[in-house]
Amino acid sequence: MTKFQALIYDKNLMVVAVGADHAGAELKGALLELLRHWGHEGLDMGTTGQAPVDYPDFAQQVCRAVLQGRAHRGVLICGTGIGMSIAANRFQGIRAALCHEPLSARLSRLHNDANVLVLAGRLIGRAMAEEVLRVWLQSPFEGGRHQRRLEKIAAFEEALGKKP
Ligand code: RB5
Repeated sequence: MTKFQALIYDKNLMVVAVGADHAGAELKGALLELLRHWGHEGLDMGTTGQAPVDYPDFAQQVCRAVLQGRAHRGVLICGTGIGMSIAANRFQGIRAALCHEPLSARLSRLHNDANVLVLAGRLIGRAMAEEVLRVWLQSPFEGGRHQRRLEKIAAFEEALGKKP
């Protein structure tokens, strides 16, 4: 969570911003329904429908929602998950993890405190995506030595951000 986070954090009741391009729009709809069913608030950041759009636009929407404290976490979906990962990890303070199965999802929380989950809409099935999301939302950050490593990333992120 960022220092700007205004929302009360409760792992059982989170605000999750979900965005996708056309290759992830259908899965996004299913995951938003599931989030609401689990008691979370799902923010639909688009796109809807199959018309081709550009994934960076939706990565930006979701990352800004997380960084500005309008959402606790973010989920991004494109065809492979790669474009969304590249775009999301350009944002200072975003730790986006592309996960295709639950163990990576769990470790991305335990070790990396990932605040954005990226899914490959064209590569994984709906049941797997749902399980990845469930595990990711429920897994805590372990802190300790992992906190020190994240601080190192934050330090060079800060230094690089100041370069022209
Ligand atoms: C869209 O065709 C596709 O390129 C996009 O969804 C994504 O996979 C990019 O990384």
